[in-house]
This record gives sequence, structure tokens and C-alpha cells, in this order.
Amino acid sequence: MGGGRGPIGRGQRERLTPREARRHQLRLDRTAPPPRAAGAQYRERKRQQFRPWKMAGFPTYRGLRPELGAAVPAVTSSEEPNVPRASPLMFHRLAPYYDDLVGQKDYPSEVRTLESLARRWVRSGGRSWLDVACGTGRHLSFLRRHYTVRGVDLSPEMLRVAKRRLPGVRLGIGDMRSFRLGETFDVISCLYSAIGHLETERDVRTTFENFARHLTPGGIAIVEPWIDPVDFRSGFVHLLTHSSPSVTVVRMAFSSRRGRRSAIHYHYLIGRSGRRVEHFEEVDRGLLVPRRRLVQLMRSAGLKAWFLTNGLPSGRGLLLGLKPHS
Ligand SMILES: C[S@@+](CC[C@H](N)C(=O)[O-])C[C@H]1O[C@@H](n2cnc3c(N)ncnc32)[C@H](O)[C@@H]1O
Repeated sequence: MGGGRGPIGRGQRERLTPREARRHQLRLDRTAPPPRAAGAQYRERKRQQFRPWKMAGFPTYRGLRPELGAAVPAVTSSEEPNVPRASPLMFHRLAPYYDDLVGQKDYPSEVRTLESLARRWVRSGGRSWLDVACGTGRHLSFLRRHYTVRGVDLSPEMLRVAKRRLPGVRLGIGDMRSFRLGETFDVISCLYSAIGHLETERDVRTTFENFARHLTPGGIAIVEPWIDPVDFRSGFVHLLTHSSPSVTVVRMAFSSRRGRRSAIHYHYLIGRSGRRVEHFEEVDRGLLVPRRRLVQLMRSAGLKAWFLTNGLPSGRGLLLGLKPHS
């Protein structure tokens, strides 16, 4: 429409001399959206194409029962997409090496602490324990000695390892915000800062509401949060290595932050005998929520909540939420 200074039509372009064409091309470039807007459009388009429940292999995965219930909540606004983000490589392609990389973590002693908290606070009288974001099932493998256990995780790859470790234990794919199991538990745990993978405070509250829904009255939720915003150190370099006769894994991490978002830039090197060394890179973003705010969010989900600063050896403390009897 129009003519004047607007973009030219195809027929017109064919009749132009090279010089005129260059001049018009310049004009065309000026009419393109500025880079920021183009970037935003691109991200929005990518976000709309993102179908995490397909990536996670829903609804069934090699005998793992999906614990989805309400499936994945609808997208609520363009600023706060209420969908799980792509699983970090560590819980996805590199899941078979997860246990090797966290090899120095003292799961038996963590479980002793968790069990003593449960003995102290649980008033529901039963012995059922649900580990949400159970990963490869390390905590569950010790908890199952004294409790009837069950596990939920978003990653089929992590659950595949857990399933090998825990024959006979009920494990299922589920998002911590939306799984529905149709039963309640005396203890729900969510450990090693798995809630730090949520993207918004609204997601955190939805998760706590879901925990409250799955707790028996008198039962307790035990949550190990991600690092407090005041404690998070940018520019920190951290190295983890594992070596066995068949594989050597190296993970180097560099931390940075933008406001309430932490970003850990990981470099992985995986060397297997007889093969070339592979290099993977990713940025894992987390949500930094102050302890006081986490306690508020848990209270708003209907739990009696408080924070223990000396929780597990990670030093991140533990958030406890007791479901009142009525
Ligand atoms: C750091 S690992 C912790 C695993 C295990 N709790 C442990 O202590 O070894 C974090 C786990 O959270 C899971 N996860 C991340 N987002 C999740 C979500 N929205 N719902 C359920 N699991 C999630 C990942 O798949 C991963 O297995």
C-alpha cells in the first residue's frame, strides 16, 4: 500500500539498477524491527514452541507411572510462563553421571538428620515418606529402611537410575507443582535445592500448596532451599571431578547473578575409554528467594512453617512446614 518511502514490491525491485537496489535495501533494513524487539519476538516464539511434557516423555516412560494428575498448569501470562523449563543437562543427558559427580555428598548422614527431624515433629502417627524431586533415589535408598517410601521427579532419565537402585519402590514422573498421587504422607521431602529450579515465587507457592495437599494432618514437609540471596556469591568457580576406569567426568561451574536470578554456567567434559572427550555447556538459572519469604509462602499454603539454619551439610538450612490437625 501506499508507495512513498515504504518497502518496495517484488516487481519494482526487478527493474532497479544495482545502485538503486542497494539504496532500497538500506531503507528496508531501517524498517526491520530493532534488535531488542526482534529478540523478544524470537524468544516468545520459542517459548510457545516449547513443549516440556513432550520432552519429559509424558505420559508413560518404560514402566514409570506418570504422577501428573493435573498435568502441566496452563500458561498464565507472557511474563511468567508457568511451564517447567528444560531440564538441566545434569538431570537429562548427563543423568547417568549424576551419582558420580555428587559422590562426595554424605547421603547416609543427611538421612539420619532428616529422620531425627521427622521423629521430633511428625504428629500424624504413620511412617510414609514421599521424596519430591527424588533424582536418582539416593535419599530414598536409606529412608526405605524405616519408612514406606515413594518418589516423584520431573526427569525420566534420573528416574531410570532411581528405578535400578530401588526395585519395588513406587517412582513416577511428576512436576512438583502439579503431581497428584491420591494419597497423603507423613513426611514430604524436597532436597538438594530442587525448588531453586522453579522460576517464580508463584510456582514456589503452588508447590507448597501441593505439598500441603499431600500431607496427612500432623505430617511435615522438609525442604532444602536454594542459596539465600544474601549468601549467593557471583564470580565463584567450583570444580567437581570423578574418575573411574571407564569414564572421567569433569564439571567446572562459574556463578553469576542478575537480581533475583542466579546463573551457574557449567562446562562438562566427559571422557570414556576408547572414545573422544565430549564437551557440554549450559547455564542453569535459579530463583533466589530470601528465607523469610519462603516461610511466608509456606504459611500462605496453610502450613505452620519455620526455618532451621543448621539443617544439612550444604549450609542452606531447612524449611519445615507442619500440616495442622484442622
Ligand atoms: C539437584 S537434583 C536433586 C536430586 C535428589 N533430591 C538428591 O538430593 O540427590 C534436582 C532434581 O530436581 C528435579 N526437578 C527439577 N525441577 C523439578 C520439578 N519442577 N518437579 C519435579 N522435579 C524437578 C530434577 O529432575 C532433579 O532430579
